[in-house]
Amino acid sequence: MDRRGKDKPEFEIFWTRGNRKIDFRKPNIIFSLGRRGSGKSAFLELMALKHLQAGGKILDLFGSKDGEGLAWLRSPLTKDKEIKLLHGNLVDLQGRDGIQATKFKLSDLDRGDIFISASPLYTSMDNEFDSVNHVFDTLWKRTYWDQPVFIIVREAANLLYSRIKIRPSQTMAKAELVYMLRESRHSGLALGLDSTKHTSIDIDIRKLTDYLVLKNLGLYGLPRDLWWIYSMFDPNALQNLKPNEFAIITKEGCMGLGSFDLPRWHKREGEHILKDVGVNPRYYEAEKESEQALEYVREAVETLTGKYTPTDVSEWIKNEHGVEIRPEGVGLYLRRIGYTTENRSIDGKQMRVVKQIGNSC
Ligand SMILES: Nc1ncnc2c1ncn2[C@@H]1O[C@H](COP(=O)(O)OP(=O)(O)OP(=O)(O)O)[C@@H](O)[C@H]1O
Ligand SMILES: [Mg+2]
Repeated sequence: MDRRGKDKPEFEIFWTRGNRKIDFRKPNIIFSLGRRGSGKSAFLELMALKHLQAGGKILDLFGSKDGEGLAWLRSPLTKDKEIKLLHGNLVDLQGRDGIQATKFKLSDLDRGDIFISASPLYTSMDNEFDSVNHVFDTLWKRTYWDQPVFIIVREAANLLYSRIKIRPSQTMAKAELVYMLRESRHSGLALGLDSTKHTSIDIDIRKLTDYLVLKNLGLYGLPRDLWWIYSMFDPNALQNLKPNEFAIITKEGCMGLGSFDLPRWHKREGEHILKDVGVNPRYYEAEKESEQALEYVREAVETLTGKYTPTDVSEWIKNEHGVEIRPEGVGLYLRRIGYTTENRSIDGKQMRVVKQIGNSC
């Protein structure tokens, strides 16, 4: 396994216009723009770590589908930190201490230093969005704070999609989100968002950022409203930034070029992170589904007469309930309700027919 990177990653910035030291005790909004694989998430992880080291907390809220946020569990720097996993209602973490995300309360923030809500800890995307919205809304109720919470949103557009789910229109969801982000500092919320696309939400969020971080932007380059940046940075150089390089523009107009170390724990593409960090969620919904399937198979064998095969059972369920259970699956369920299959010759053809275990007929 690729284990490049640093246990104690650092970054440096060479300011080309103005000069600014990032104060990690402040609720900063950092927005990082770049094409896929340009090093956006690795950079946000480093920014989150800096907030943690300055006494803040990390909430890795909107992970990618593959559970990238879970990689914090193998960060050596977080050994002396409490990590809590936020998970869906129908998920059992099997021995690992977690918090049901829909029950998240402000006082839960005292229970840990790093909170991770990762897609594999939910039974569906819907459930993940509902849960994340709840956590997000709860955090905005913080009226006093002494430590900022750095929220990582690994794809800014996902935040908007999740809000659209709970608001009557896209316009309302977007207006509310922009309002929440504008007010975030009052609740002590720092945000690190990344985006690959130049969507409309990006422009509104970008206007609120304290630090705009540009990674390799690929062929399409900067969105039109940022073209002025080309007067300071060579377009060609921006297009060829390596994953460890970035350009940075502050709210006050300071500009600089920087480089950073890859956090060693950062999830690599294709890696099975759940296995590596030893998280083994059990999904109850899947179990409920299989109970339902078992019921259908039971109903089929009680209804079908004569000689029939698992394929007949499968077709019967499809016709009666519109649910597809493959004949191989039917075979497994049959055994659980005391049936099996055996080879019989029917009309000169060998077929596997269903029979009750222990019944010789
Ligand atoms: N500072 C760095 N130094 C060296 N390599 C890096 C650095 N940052 C990132 N990389 C390399 O780039 C890869 C992709 O990084 P990362 O996952 O942060 O990209 P991304 O822009 O978030 O991608 P995506 O858009 O797919 O989410 C890493 O797995 C690593 O190999
Ligand atoms: Mg990423």
